Amino acid sequence: MKNISIAAMPNDIPSARRLAMAMNIEFAPIELRDFPDGETLVRASDAARKTILYCSLNDPNEKLAPLVLAASALRDLGAEEIILVAPYLCYMRQDKAFHRGEAVSQRVIAKLLSPWIDQLVTVEPHLHRVKDLGSVFPDIKSISLSGALLLAELIDRDGAKENMLLVGPDQEAGAWTKAVAERAQLPYVILTKKRLGDRDVRIALPKEVAVRGKHVCLIDDVVSTGATLAFAAMLLREQGAAMIEALTVHALCSSEDLKHLKAAGITRLRSTDTVCHKTNAISIAPMLAGALVQELGR
Ligand code: R5P
Repeated sequence: MKNISIAAMPNDIPSARRLAMAMNIEFAPIELRDFPDGETLVRASDAARKTILYCSLNDPNEKLAPLVLAASALRDLGAEEIILVAPYLCYMRQDKAFHRGEAVSQRVIAKLLSPWIDQLVTVEPHLHRVKDLGSVFPDIKSISLSGALLLAELIDRDGAKENMLLVGPDQEAGAWTKAVAERAQLPYVILTKKRLGDRDVRIALPKEVAVRGKHVCLIDDVVSTGATLAFAAMLLREQGAAMIEALTVHALCSSEDLKHLKAAGITRLRSTDTVCHKTNAISIAPMLAGALVQELGR
């Protein structure tokens, strides 16, 4: 039996292949076949003692059941350790019941996944009040990697830093906009945001901040509907920003949302490939490989 290999869910095959190449190990796709009644047959072709199961959890409602079935199949094939690589980790925002009767989805997802896996590796999980992934997944080992370095690398690659101002569109983006700014050695500001609905936010700029004539780069961890970036861009444009672009770790937005971002004045949006998306501009594979090789050996 092999010591380490990768098993990839169907949507993750390109990213898993990049990780396999970066780690110089083998990878095999997990096969799914939908039955006419909506159930799914899940088949793993092989497992190693330590099997990395690659499944980014955007569109989670359709992915979670096949993921658990895949983990079970890998165990049955002899995997002693299953390391779930979920570069985008779903359902982390709802960390309490905001209204009576609401499910605390963060806790539920942790309880659903933990019995099937030994370790979780993710990138920039969307944690609000809970700061530490370990307290969300207390029963398994978990590693949370930062996307800040990759976004800073994208800025450096362009080499067009003159007159650039990094802007975090809300308080939650504060800490890691600062992290990108420090790595890219650029100034930054944080806006304040009030959310009124799924696609409706109000954003304000601190009084003392001048953006006139600036090349603004908006930084957010996740772009879901794009409303946050669009409202921020409209505000920055009104205030005289010369050019506005955006960088994100997790791009979840639709093609229609991308059109709205353009209309709002964002000339380009670039993302990491935690989620396979047309805005992908940099691969997380080398960063994942570094963390996994250190963790698992080779
Ligand atoms: C907020 O907590 C996040 O940092 C993002 O700003 C937010 O989730 C983006 O969502 P949307 O693109 O739907 O505005």
